[in-house]
Amino acid sequence: MPTSATPHEPSTPVPGSTTRSAAAARERTAVLEDLIARNPGEYRVLTGDRPTGALHLGHLLGTVGNRVRLQNLGVEVFLIVADYQVITDRDDAGDLPATVREVLLDYLAAGLDPERSTVFTHSAVPALNQLLLPFLSLVTVAELERNPTVKAEAEAALLRQKRGISGLLLTYPVHQAADILFCHGNLVPVGVDQLPHLEMTRTIARRFNQRYAAARPYFPEPDALIAPSTTVLGSDGRRMSKSRGNALELRATEDETVAYFRRARTDADRVITYEPERRPEIANLLQVGAYFTGTSPEVLADEVGSAGAGRLKTVVTEAVVEGLRPLRARRRELASAGPRHLAEVLAQGNARANAIADRTLDDVRTLMNMRY
Ligand code: TRP
Repeated sequence: MPTSATPHEPSTPVPGSTTRSAAAARERTAVLEDLIARNPGEYRVLTGDRPTGALHLGHLLGTVGNRVRLQNLGVEVFLIVADYQVITDRDDAGDLPATVREVLLDYLAAGLDPERSTVFTHSAVPALNQLLLPFLSLVTVAELERNPTVKAEAEAALLRQKRGISGLLLTYPVHQAADILFCHGNLVPVGVDQLPHLEMTRTIARRFNQRYAAARPYFPEPDALIAPSTTVLGSDGRRMSKSRGNALELRATEDETVAYFRRARTDADRVITYEPERRPEIANLLQVGAYFTGTSPEVLADEVGSAGAGRLKTVVTEAVVEGLRPLRARRRELASAGPRHLAEVLAQGNARANAIADRTLDDVRTLMNMRY
């Protein structure tokens, strides 16, 4: 067996390497944004969400808004509703059909256009899932075990359920590589916490090419595109997340939105200033308000100034209510139109994804000399 066929483990990560690679990814993002603006047709985005609940404000500012922006720039967008990922760390996936429907409604209401973008689910694309087998052979257990995101999720699952991690949790970064590579995605918008996963995808693409397609690389090594906005905090001051119960869902009513921001944490300083390190809760409100009014957090802070946190909350509440009004109206319209349209959108996306996945798996079998 040639040595290139053995998975090479990267050297042990040095302390601080995560921050360094995050900084490098940010720098690369600036370069990429420039390239995308000039040549959107060169890129195919693959990204997605676990269907664990309706989407919230953190999704819109962190990921969903960015996807719609990329789509509207003319980039081809593939969105995976990662249903198999729901069962990485829980036995009960909840009412999946209902959740998938809510996520679809959120995507479409946020501006995702099913004529230009492709929405599909893991479970409906068998050839994508089959790529997991050859890909698993390209990584070592040690590499899987030291993935920091998997480690964090494993710890959380352990605390929650007091039991060991599932094989699927350990290997889902490889499954995610299949998500990205089946369609030859070359651009993955991610948060910095997902960077280790993308590194794994790049490693798998590289090793597959070395082993089976040395003359002509088959898979691209995709780039991470770091989302422009920062993490949105929930009403308790921690990162907004459905499971923490601190999220403002996109589908919430105006009254719920008003009540949500009334509860939001602030601090004791009278004058409003934008200082993300020292005043995270205030900075968060300023970021949210700025997003919806098309200004910067600094300018908004100056505008509110000595009027204080009460005034800031009023301004932000109004901005969010107004800003989400069109999205919520579209969402209600889609929801009341009945399940037919949503089912069609998904069927069309699944059909497109299947056509591409079948072709890729076919190529992979040829490259691996598995044609009989
Ligand atoms: N892991 C992502 C999440 O937690 C969802 C996801 C599945 C994904 N496959 C992907 C993201 C591939 C980017 C690329 O929501």
